[in-house]
Amino acid sequence: MVGSSLNGSDSDSIWNVITINGLKKSYQLGEMEVPILHGIDLNVKKGEFVAIMGPSGSGKSTLMNMIGCLDRPTGGSVRLMGKDTASISDNELAELRGFEIGFVFQNFNLIPRLSAYENVLLPTYSNSKKNIDAAQRAKDLLTLVGLDDRLHHKPTELSGGQRQRVAIARSMINDPSLILADEPTGNLDSKTSEEIMGIFSELHGKGCTIVMITHDPEMKKYVDRVVLIRDGKIENN
Ligand SMILES: Nc1ncnc2c1ncn2[C@@H]1O[C@H](COP(=O)(O)OP(=O)(O)OP(=O)(O)O)[C@@H](O)[C@H]1O
Ligand SMILES: [Mg+2]
Repeated sequence: MVGSSLNGSDSDSIWNVITINGLKKSYQLGEMEVPILHGIDLNVKKGEFVAIMGPSGSGKSTLMNMIGCLDRPTGGSVRLMGKDTASISDNELAELRGFEIGFVFQNFNLIPRLSAYENVLLPTYSNSKKNIDAAQRAKDLLTLVGLDDRLHHKPTELSGGQRQRVAIARSMINDPSLILADEPTGNLDSKTSEEIMGIFSELHGKGCTIVMITHDPEMKKYVDRVVLIRDGKIENN
């Protein structure tokens, strides 16, 4: 069978959830263009659990934002499930983001005025899979992450680790096939980190593709592969 060597062709969609070719990103600071990503090539196969590691400021979150279509590349391409994200319509992109991708942001991005339960339910307001009982699923997910007794607490009434768990529960609400997690265990004690990783391992076992940024070498044991990024380039691949 032909495989992932067919870069960019439609047949790679069978194998790769993420296909990145020559990805570049620069930020405009006044008159100056500051290059951050210098041509990244990266493929992630369906069902893979990949860790992205590298020093602070190396471009990990920037790369994650490009994968999740939260920001536009300056050059190169990002294909998700075989679709070139630069050429699909806004509707298709919204569907892809809403149904197929679960995000766990580095700073949680919880809405302060909403309870834990409402935060988890939030992505279903704009996008909901018809066959999902969103209200029940939000409760089930908060139970899964050990917060069934904190459903109606607001983010400020939760600890850092609990907020992180709400963010993880929210990332799973639409039953995504791809989870993008930026430091999901950053700032957590080792016991809570193990619990969170247990949740990710379970999702991985069910076939979910996971890309996780981490600083913690302890997390290597949970993943299939580590991608090292330094100064906006991949060191190993
Ligand atoms: N919106 C922006 N405008 C200008 N520069 C930015 C912007 N976002 C990020 N950068 C710069 O891009 C570089 C990479 O940032 P990024 O957040 O991707 O790093 P990171 O690898 O995720 O770091 P950390 O491990 O600390 O989270 C940094 O030097 C940062 O200052
Ligand atoms: Mg970051």
